[in-house]
Amino acid sequence: MTTVNRLRPRRSCLAVPGSNPRFLEKAQGLPADQVFLDLEDACAPLVKESARHTIVDALNNGDWGGKTRVVRVNDWTTHWTYRDVVTVVEGAGPNLDCIMLPKVQDATQVKALDLLLTQIEKTMGFEVGRIGIEAQIENAKGLVNVDEIAASSPRIETIIFGPADFMASINMKSLVVGEQPPGYPADAYHYILMRILMAARMHDLQAIDGPYLQIRNQQGYREVAQRAAALGFDGKWVLHPDQVAAANEIFSPTQEDYDHAELILDAYDWCTSEAGGAKGSAMLGDEMIDEASRKMALVISGKGRAAGM
Ligand code: GLV
Ligand code: MG
Repeated sequence: MTTVNRLRPRRSCLAVPGSNPRFLEKAQGLPADQVFLDLEDACAPLVKESARHTIVDALNNGDWGGKTRVVRVNDWTTHWTYRDVVTVVEGAGPNLDCIMLPKVQDATQVKALDLLLTQIEKTMGFEVGRIGIEAQIENAKGLVNVDEIAASSPRIETIIFGPADFMASINMKSLVVGEQPPGYPADAYHYILMRILMAARMHDLQAIDGPYLQIRNQQGYREVAQRAAALGFDGKWVLHPDQVAAANEIFSPTQEDYDHAELILDAYDWCTSEAGGAKGSAMLGDEMIDEASRKMALVISGKGRAAGM
């Protein structure tokens, strides 16, 4: 069994309704790191079945230009999930990188998808284990079980926060997804985001923030994205072409931070070398750097190199 690639760039994850060939065409030309073709909430129940075939056609015949290609299926509490997976993976498996599973509540739901994928891959003669899984956390049960979900399968690549369903499921008093609920004096999302981030990092997975629905409010999008990026999230959903550039920028380091990180790495390499005196720490301007500084610099420089800096 091959292992999935957990380090695919996912700064911007573009949502595209699977039932709309025009949007599927347009998405191919946008500079998003990832696209996900949606069979769940962006697809009306009446068109879910035909959308499976529209998606297969778009994956097989579209030019996705190196983007990570994901399909979001319906969750296991519906009757659609297994046919979503069978139709899409049998029809376009080699042109698909991951299945996104929404409203994940416990590890068994991921394991069930993993088993189904393995059977399809074996039956179709596809490479076994290549297709990854992205798990969306969208209710209290999913969040409480997020550690077991993150550990549930070698196919898992990311844990995604789904704020809209999550806010509804815990009765949060707000209608504006991602914005602070009126009346609460602090950041109402801090615990949720950190909980997801800890589970993801414990298992070496990416953590992705979900949608911001006020698509005309660029400033609002930037603020919500910056909050997740500051904590350490790897990327965020984009629902509109205007949000793509903002996500790519916010989830990449600034040029200044990237250059600074490279300087720290060079200075640390030098001070620990024989020629530099084999010291454990050094001064870089007014800043003292040591092994922990090197680790922090590696994070920024890794993100910068992935972003092509
Ligand atoms: C995404 O699926 C959300 O519910 O926010
Ligand atoms: Mg949702």
